[in-house]
Amino acid sequence: MRKTSDIIWQDAQHQVLFDILDMISEPDSDVEVLRKLREYTEYHFSLEELYMNNLKYPDMKEHIRAHDQFRAEINKLMQQSAAYDSAFKNIVHTFLTEWLTCHVFGIDKRLETFLQLSEVK
Ligand SMILES: [Fe+2]
Ligand SMILES: [Fe+2]
Repeated sequence: MRKTSDIIWQDAQHQVLFDILDMISEPDSDVEVLRKLREYTEYHFSLEELYMNNLKYPDMKEHIRAHDQFRAEINKLMQQSAAYDSAFKNIVHTFLTEWLTCHVFGIDKRLETFLQLSEVK
């Protein structure tokens, strides 16, 4: 039997990701926000990957590849964190928000539908 809680976690975690992202554009934010984002993203991606793996999600490879791409991007940004001024923050905020919006409303929606149709105990 499907449990609504299995879907709610995905939406709730996406909301947390967008909240952390918004903290990047705050004037007094520093590189700690990126670290926090990386940490929470990893937690969230790992959970999605666990569900995909347990339920033998057919598009798992493609989805994990997308997660890995984001992992690489955020690591790259962390390496440039010495230049953490407002211009850099703007670029980072725009880039990560666009990427995440596209992911959450595209590939993650398809996963959500799959989860909804699956039997999760
Ligand atoms: Fe997600
Ligand atoms: Fe995802």
